[in-house]
Amino acid sequence: MTSRELREKFLKFFEQRGHIIIPSASLVPEKDPTTLFTGSGMQPLIPYLLGQPHPLGKRLVNSQKCFRAEDIEEVGDNRHTTFFEMLGNWSLGDYFKEEQLSWFFEFLTKEVNLDPNRLYITVFSGDPNNNIPRDDESVAIWKELFAEKGVKAKDVELLNSKQGAKLGMQGGRIFYYDSSKNWWSRSGLPENMPSGEPGGPDSEVFYEFVEVEHDSKFGKYCHPNCNCGRFLEIGNSVFMEYKKNENGSFDKLLQKNVDFGGGLERITAAANNSPDIFEIDLLSSIIKKMEDLSGIDYGGEGKESFRIIADHMRAASFMIADGVRPSNVERGYFIRRLVRRAVRHADTLKMSKGSLVSLINPIVQSYADDYPEIVQNKSLIEETIKEEEDKFRETLEKGLKVFEKISVKAGGLISGRGAFDLYQTYGFPLEMTLDLAKEKGIKVDEEGFRKEFQKHQKMSRTSADKKFKGGLADTKEETVKLHTAHHLLLAALQKILGPQVKQRGSNITSERLRIDFSHSKKMTTEELKKIEDLVNQKIKEGLNMIKKEMSKEEAENIGAEMEFGVKYSDIVSVYLAEDDKGNIFSKEFCGGPHVKNTKDLGHFKITKEESVASGIRRIKAILE
Ligand code: ALA
Repeated sequence: MTSRELREKFLKFFEQRGHIIIPSASLVPEKDPTTLFTGSGMQPLIPYLLGQPHPLGKRLVNSQKCFRAEDIEEVGDNRHTTFFEMLGNWSLGDYFKEEQLSWFFEFLTKEVNLDPNRLYITVFSGDPNNNIPRDDESVAIWKELFAEKGVKAKDVELLNSKQGAKLGMQGGRIFYYDSSKNWWSRSGLPENMPSGEPGGPDSEVFYEFVEVEHDSKFGKYCHPNCNCGRFLEIGNSVFMEYKKNENGSFDKLLQKNVDFGGGLERITAAANNSPDIFEIDLLSSIIKKMEDLSGIDYGGEGKESFRIIADHMRAASFMIADGVRPSNVERGYFIRRLVRRAVRHADTLKMSKGSLVSLINPIVQSYADDYPEIVQNKSLIEETIKEEEDKFRETLEKGLKVFEKISVKAGGLISGRGAFDLYQTYGFPLEMTLDLAKEKGIKVDEEGFRKEFQKHQKMSRTSADKKFKGGLADTKEETVKLHTAHHLLLAALQKILGPQVKQRGSNITSERLRIDFSHSKKMTTEELKKIEDLVNQKIKEGLNMIKKEMSKEEAENIGAEMEFGVKYSDIVSVYLAEDDKGNIFSKEFCGGPHVKNTKDLGHFKITKEESVASGIRRIKAILE
């Protein structure tokens, strides 16, 4: 079965049961600042799960593009990917456990033709601390469903992975696990949920690949949540009927929801009885191309590299198609990480330099019919991947030389500081340093690396605080507004007088701002007027003030304004004044605070221009 057939079957099956098909939302969540990427089908539906009526009704179904950054290190085994499609169906206060479990079982056994003897179930064992009962209802429903197929379904309590590995299957088909496995919310465990967040017990279905022998590396006995690869989770029905309240306990939501999610690739793999999801059509076409490029067979030694490259290139392509661009911060940083890892693994497979870009073609072909954005952005994706690879190779070369030096001196152990320098200056992720060190038979002080990392984060916060205190008298609203105006003014001075203009001092109170800057002659009335007009124009345009954390090197590279004589730490924050199209008017090293948008500033007026020293002018200005 192809994934396309499966996707269509799923949508149709639920459409026939009164569901409306909704399109996949973007990987970049809209109006949801809590998360960088869409990581499950329910994310764009939160308001409706909380009770707001959905314009298309109470029954919805789709296939949603998802990216899970937290799985990046897991990629390489038979079943993990960072990007995947989640098949989802929802009841927004409509049907509940009975219909959901029966339908999903019917779908798996009749539409996908899975043998019920290969299906195993997990259910919620209850959470006494939060007063949430064991899910006996689902157990009763499951027992009946299996009985109809002539399959005995004994229930067994395992509670968690540790006990599962100790106790094993015990002839069971339905297994109780606690909230570590059978509770679902965007933030995971009930304890970790913020107030207002919806969540609930869930029931997962696992498919058993009988050919896969349990590996005792993962525990003495196998059980559905074991990581050996014998069991593959193929679907999760969340019974979303709770919401965390202000006191940290749980209330029932006004409506009982179903939030179902199942991995398209995983169900396809089960349909084909192939324990390796990379063998399904969507991924195997990328792998096939890699075989051509490298002359190596997927079945051999480099399997992990094949999988990492296929996953990472696909994920990066979808991100770029949804408007993300490589950078050192936030979403863009993930593209960078994905491409860098892919480059490293392409080298392991001895694919020629610059050949990663040829993988875009099979990706585009596989998705062309269902995700037009991938076709529309094909050249952009290719250019971006190519550029990123080139850029990385440049630093990689320099970094490898430094790595050689460090590793000779290391005497068997690369220090935390050494690993951090490679990260900071040459963009070597820790895992890459670990890989390289492993090849040389030396160790890396990982703990030391993490300490250095934290130390630098702390320093950057401290320097941001200091800078803030240095420039601003207080954090009153008026002062903050003048601080933002100060950034616009410096950018305007550079636009009108020339880029050689540099800030030499500043002072901001709630009444006025003051800036000292390098300029050799008295400014003309005309120049002052032009600058004033430009600042007011930018205020009117409503630029967003966006804070970004990045390495000092990156901040310098993008040309962010630094203050003369100030020593910055290695990780800094930069404020950008940017319009909705992404045009940046001003960028400065700065810890804030700033207004969110310049439209709140009012009218900008220069009140004085004077000389303070040779080659240094001073402007005072107000907002009215
Ligand atoms: N939202 C549920 C999940 O992601 C279905 O597993």
